[in-house]
Amino acid sequence: MQSIQVLGICGSPRKNKSSRFMLDFALEAAEATAPEIVKIELYSISGKTFHPCDSCHQCERLGYCRKTDDDFAELRDKWLAADAVIYSVPVYHMGIPSQLKSFIDRVGHSVQEGFNDRALKVMGFLTSGSGFASGQESVMIFLNSHAVMMGCIPIGGLWPVGYIGVGARVPYPKTMRAAYAEQDEHTVEVVKATKELGKQIVLVTMLLKSGGAQNRELLKQNGGFNLFLQRLGSS
Ligand SMILES: Cc1cc2nc3c(=O)[nH]c(=O)nc-3n(C[C@H](O)[C@H](O)[C@H](O)COP(=O)(O)O)c2cc1C
Repeated sequence: MQSIQVLGICGSPRKNKSSRFMLDFALEAAEATAPEIVKIELYSISGKTFHPCDSCHQCERLGYCRKTDDDFAELRDKWLAADAVIYSVPVYHMGIPSQLKSFIDRVGHSVQEGFNDRALKVMGFLTSGSGFASGQESVMIFLNSHAVMMGCIPIGGLWPVGYIGVGARVPYPKTMRAAYAEQDEHTVEVVKATKELGKQIVLVTMLLKSGGAQNRELLKQNGGFNLFLQRLGSS
């Protein structure tokens, strides 16, 4: 069985808060699903710099983003190597934090040959906001669109908090951690859905990679699967 690399991207500029609380459960559940083949890695954007795309379009000629004076390449390489990506993202002004948006703009524009290569990563989304109907859905719709644009496969969570990812409300002024310790009903549901998302991501990635390995020649002949074929390797 092929190994599975699961990358968790913590999209909060703050260390170890709600986004990280959720992501840890998802990554642990992913690893526990098939410990002998799953390798998890956590990347936090906290303290990192991602300059915005300035639409120079040089990546279309170069095949990579020409800006190298920030942390973009470090995360891009981890993103490219991953079979599955779990984003855990706070809601900022009904959207995602600008640091992560800059990364997504640049990875979206610079890694796909002619924008047609299907990366075939399995993706899952976790988000938290301090209110009700205060942007969790916008964040998840955006991230689902990012997955589709990159030729990836988005995975939903678990009813009632996980339709197109897992959307949490932070029981402000309590932290999610404190609320979970008190078995707050919503936070318990969030954790349950988050774990399920981590598990489903691994199961779908296993299906995808074993199917890919069996159909390697077909994929090579048809084009548009280079990013996936690179991860399948020759084993
Ligand atoms: C600049 C900024 C904008 C925010 N905008 C929203 C918002 O539109 N909707 C919402 O529910 N929460 C909003 N929040 C609250 C955060 O989404 C929430 O506290 C989140 O859980 C923080 O994640 P973290 O603890 O991982 O940093 C905002 C917070 C900040 C700092």
